[in-house]
Parts: sequence; C-alpha cells; structure tokens
Amino acid sequence: MIMVIAIRHIGIFTSGGDAPGMNAALFAVAKTAENYGLKVSGIRRGFEGLIDNDLIVLNAKQLQKSMHLGGTILKTARSERFMSEQGQQRALQTIKKNGLDAIIAIGGDGTFRGMLSLSTISKIPFIGIPGTIDNDIAGTDYTLGFDSAVNTAIKCIDNIIDTAESHNRVFLIEVMGRDSGYIGIYCGLSCAVDSILIPESNDDFSYLLTKIKHYESEDAFIVVVAEGDELGVEHVASEIRKVNPLIDLRMAKLGHIQRGGNPTAQDRMLGIRLGVLATKALTQGESAKMAGICNNQPSLSPFENLPKSHVVNTELQGLLALFCEY
Ligand code: F6P
Repeated sequence: MIMVIAIRHIGIFTSGGDAPGMNAALFAVAKTAENYGLKVSGIRRGFEGLIDNDLIVLNAKQLQKSMHLGGTILKTARSERFMSEQGQQRALQTIKKNGLDAIIAIGGDGTFRGMLSLSTISKIPFIGIPGTIDNDIAGTDYTLGFDSAVNTAIKCIDNIIDTAESHNRVFLIEVMGRDSGYIGIYCGLSCAVDSILIPESNDDFSYLLTKIKHYESEDAFIVVVAEGDELGVEHVASEIRKVNPLIDLRMAKLGHIQRGGNPTAQDRMLGIRLGVLATKALTQGESAKMAGICNNQPSLSPFENLPKSHVVNTELQGLLALFCEY
C-alpha cells in the first residue's frame, strides 16, 4: 500500500516479549531518521505507552550506548487494554497529540495484529520489524533475538551435558518457543542431544518412550523439550516415569535466561538492517508491511500476504529425523 503523506515525525515502540537486538534496531531507526532530518519519539511499554501518552525523544547518539544491551531500553508489555476500542481510541489521541506521522512497531505477531487493528481506525502509516526469540514470523529468515537466545541456551545445555554425562542421567531440558520448535531444534542439533521434542512433531514422542523404556543408564541421555501444553518437561517426565519408574531422571527449565543477555553479532546486524529498511520504507510511502531479510536480502512483505505462522521447515524436520529419532 503506497500512502502519500510527508513523514516528519516517527513514533517507535517495542512490544510483546523483549528480544536481544531490539536496541540495535532502535539505534538504526534513529540514525537513519536523523539522516533524513526526521524526528523520532520512543513510545515506552509498547501499546501501553501509546494509550498512556508515555513518549520520550530519541536520538542516535544516546542509543549508540545501548547497542550491546539485551532487552529493550524502551521497555515492553503485552497490553490487554489495547484490545478494547477505548484503548485504541486513546492510542489514536496520543498519535494526534504528539504529531506522529508514522509508526515503527517492533515485536511479534500479536504486535502486528495490534497495528493492523489500529490501521482500521487510522490512516497512520506503519512498518513492522519482527522481534521475538521464537523465530515464528513468516517473511524473514530470522527474527530479532533468535540467534542470541539459541546461543545463550546452548551454553546452558553444554553445561548440563557435562554433569549428566558424569552421572549417566536422563536429562530433560526445556527451552522456549511458545508454539514454535525453532529454538528447540537449533539448540538440540547444535548440542548433539539424543532427542528433540517440538510442537511441529504433533507432540508425539512415542518413539522416545520406547527408547527410554529399555534405557539401562550406560550413558547420559539428553532430551531438549520445547515448552507447550502438550510438551514441557513435567509432562514428558511423567510419561517417562510411567514406562520406566526407576529411571535416574532430572529436569531443567532454561526459562527467561535464554531471553536476556547481550545480542550476538548476528542480532545486532539484523537490528541495524531492519531498522534502516523500515525507516527508508516509511519515507518512500510504504505502509502495512513488515521489514524482513529473506534469502539474506532486504525484503518488505505486506502483512495481508504473510502466512499466519512460520513452522519449522521440511529440511529441519528431516535433520531432526536423521539425528534424533530411533
Ligand atoms: O514470545 C517470546 C516468549 O519468550 C516465548 O518463547 C514464551 O512462550 C513467552 O515469550 C513467555 O512470555 P512471558 O515472558 O510473558 O512469560
């Protein structure tokens, strides 16, 4: 959608789960905007800040110092209030009051759904930047934060393997990813674990139970388990105990450890590339598109054409079958 509105003032926010690399994207937006002579305001706490008129002026010099930090200096939130018509009207008032001509929204699918819903009551141009450790957004090879989260998680898994090997234990290690197995599969393959359970396998782990039934502790047995209602370490542990009650089993949930920490070079560069792309896109009259990197090339995808989810592809599923199923 091409909209002919002169952009002088961009509002930017981070929303949903924080992800390493978000600060790099903020820096890149401020730097590019300054180059074009545009003002940038940071909206704090995502849609919550839009509702509460909580804005700060951003400049590249100040953001340069946050490049190496995980999390988001703008803070973030999952906003219930924005779901209501009243919340969206208040957001609109903030946009008008502050003279925002365009918005850049950094977050995941919930963030983009929120912006699409705002665009039904406002003509404000907006561009999305995919920021979530889950890597579950279509229209980009990788989302901001995924690479950092995987690198943090594999350091933890390597440590657990040392102790598990010393005791010949079965260890279940839970990683994040909500409904997506990307973190699980990247961590599990990178650490050469014995089994990886991800939601894309339809939560079927009967092959693992068969293997574990006859497990005789001659070695450690490491399983990376994606979080989820049908997976998660507690559920898998209880199923394992049913088939092998005497097993020496331990569990670890990596939890939010994997979401924090300094962004990797990959995520810093991704933040820079997406921030520049999103800002340029707005100055060129683009709107309702997501900035992404596809096949390592900058790409803008209209939200309406994006598939709902980005499931683990067949190549990765093939690797999973080759390395982890018995
Ligand atoms: O979306 C990123 C993510 O870290 C998911 O992997 C996880 O399910 C969720 O956020 C946790 O959210 P919260 O921090 O709100 O508990």
